[in-house]
Order: sequence, then structure tokens, then C-alpha cells
Amino acid sequence: MTLRIGAARARDRDRVAEIVSSTGVFRAAEGAVALEVFDSAVERPGVDYFALGAFDEADRLVGFACYGPTPCTLGTWDLYWIAVDPAYQRQGTGRALMEACERAIERRGGRMVVVETSSRPDYGPTRAFYRKLGYRETARIPDFYAPGDDLVVYVKPLTPSGRDRVHG
Ligand SMILES: CC(C)(COP(=O)(O)OP(=O)(O)OC[C@H]1O[C@@H](n2cnc3c(N)ncnc32)[C@H](O)[C@@H]1OP(=O)(O)O)[C@@H](O)C(=O)NCCC(=O)NCCS
Repeated sequence: MTLRIGAARARDRDRVAEIVSSTGVFRAAEGAVALEVFDSAVERPGVDYFALGAFDEADRLVGFACYGPTPCTLGTWDLYWIAVDPAYQRQGTGRALMEACERAIERRGGRMVVVETSSRPDYGPTRAFYRKLGYRETARIPDFYAPGDDLVVYVKPLTPSGRDRVHG
């Protein structure tokens, strides 16, 4: 499969909704928040969020990631959402999206990426994915999302170049 990674566009919104729902891990309220973050990223890129998409040969969105600078920090960035169409998982799409986010963050002066996820068993593959990409579990809040469902925080240090710095 030939993938293109590039800025997500407003016309990709329906595919974002489909992908979020088809992954089967997000609660309905989380899906709504994912769309809010996506809308903000494509309407006002960089004000709070950026969105990158992975596109197949037919220019169809098969995965996306939203990230942005963490407010009130110097050079810390959050990876807010990443999701890949299940039909396209385990083919390097998620890795390509994450690496593109990390390079963009470095160009903007970012020195650290933080991702938050759940300790639920259905997020096991997601945690394996982050660990494989060099993220380390740095904090955990027991019962954060629900009883028995901890918040797990992963961190990866970056090497900022600052070429496209927007803050910090
Ligand atoms: C997490 C997610 C984005 C990974 O996307 P992907 O395109 O399948 O990931 P890649 O193919 O690039 O995987 C890179 C590496 O991560 C690890 N990995 C990915 N999926 C895995 C799985 N299901 N089980 C174990 N390891 C996995 C592997 O080491 C993999 O390399 P390999 O295939 O060469 O062994 C995707 O599974 C997804 O959309 N999950 C549901 C949504 C979600 O949990 N989002 C994050 C929470 S906000």
C-alpha cells in the first residue's frame, strides 16, 4: 500500500467519524470530542491543534492524528488522538502518522510528546504501539476514567530543531 501523510482537510470529517467508531475502543462521548478537536484543527490549524491524515492511493483518509502544544508549558506537546481504520492497521500507518507528528513537533520547537491512554485490556494493543515507538510509561492515576480504568501517561523525548517555532 502506498500511503501519503499530509494535512487533514474539512472534507475528511466523515471518514474521521467512521474511523473513530470502527476502532471500537472509544466511548460515544469520546467520539464527539475527537470530532471537536478535528474541526478545530482543520478550521484553525495551530491555534490549539494540528491534524495529520494518512491517505491511500485514492486520496481516502485511512488514519489521522491530532496534536498540539500543551498550554502553559515550554516545548511540551500533547498527542490528543490517533486512530487507524481497522482494515489498514498493522501495516505501518500508525507509525507513519506518529513519526510525521513528531517531526512536525520538533520543527516547532517541541522537546517532549505526552500521550494519555487507558489501562483497559482493549487498549493493550494501543499501549504496545506506544511502547514500540519509544514511549515510556511515566505516570498512572488509578481509577481515573472509571473504577478499574487507570489513566496511563506515556512520554517520549524529542530533539527540537525549532525551524517552525510557534511558542516557547
Ligand atoms: C494504535 C493504532 C493507531 C496503531 O495503528 P497501526 O497502523 O495498526 O500501527 P502500526 O502498524 O504502525 O504498528 C507499529 C507497531 O506498533 C505495534 N502494534 C501495533 N498494533 C499492535 C497490536 N494490535 N498488538 C501489538 N502490537 C501492536 C507493533 O509493534 C507494530 O509493529 P509491527 O506491526 O511491525 O509489529 C491503531 O491500533 C488504532 O487505531 N487503535 C484504536 C484507536 C486507539 O487506540 N487510539 C489511541 C488512543 S487515543
